Amino acid sequence: MNARELKKLFVDFFVSKGHVEIPSASLVPENDPTTLFISAGIQPIVPYFLGKKHPSGSRLTNVQKCIRTGDIEEVGDTYHHTFFEMLGNWSLGDYFKKEAIEFSYEFLTKYLNLNKSKLSVTCFAGNQESPKDEFSASVWEKCGIQKENISYLEDNWWGPPGITGPCGSDTEMFFNDLEIWNDVLIQYFKNNQGKFEKLVQNNIDTGMGVERTLAVISGFTDDYLTAIWQPIIKKIEEVSNKKYDSIETFRGTSLPINKPFRIIADHIRSAVFIIADGVEP
Ligand code: SER
Repeated sequence: MNARELKKLFVDFFVSKGHVEIPSASLVPENDPTTLFISAGIQPIVPYFLGKKHPSGSRLTNVQKCIRTGDIEEVGDTYHHTFFEMLGNWSLGDYFKKEAIEFSYEFLTKYLNLNKSKLSVTCFAGNQESPKDEFSASVWEKCGIQKENISYLEDNWWGPPGITGPCGSDTEMFFNDLEIWNDVLIQYFKNNQGKFEKLVQNNIDTGMGVERTLAVISGFTDDYLTAIWQPIIKKIEEVSNKKYDSIETFRGTSLPINKPFRIIADHIRSAVFIIADGVEP
């Protein structure tokens, strides 16, 4: 499967579950002074989590272009990228935890054919704002995730995407210990006093990275070995006259050169998409 096929498989799956596909928004946010770039699929549709009616209905799906400047220091490893594409499905006051988790499990095991014994999930351990999420854990277990592969973490919380906005506990999915998908259970609004108010409706916001998922289903432990990155890596090899998998000695220290290759490839890809959305270098 290539990236295009993966994106189509995801969107078609959620359309078959009653979702409407919406286009990716620009990387440059509109009417949102809290952030320089769109960093998650939820960001352009935040008002609809607060009760406003979306013209396409209460079940949406898309592939959103994202930039995460916050991850820039991680870039160089095998799975962080400043630009990536996020597969997402949303419930705007429609279905909640049970259906969201069942959809995720069905897509991972029946459509991506991932081995369920290598899948693990985390659920929210609870804090003063929100209780321990035993319900999500029970749904995962009923779906077929083994009890020993379900853990509770305090930091299973996502958002808000700006300083204020919708947020909630989440349940994250891992394959071979790599996070590939996050179902956020959006029930709260963080206000400008830092307080969490219950929203008028329960929402679902999910995000799955195309680059990581493609590597996982292709059997790679390095995203840069997939067809998304290989043309850029090959070009860097050509212009640098060095090989991605070689070792270089610099000031007496021998290091694999793949890290600087990945950083250059990542920054080129991000720059291209940022420029394509109208930011002048
Ligand atoms: N907004 C959540 C995330 O970015 C899920 O899409 O992980």
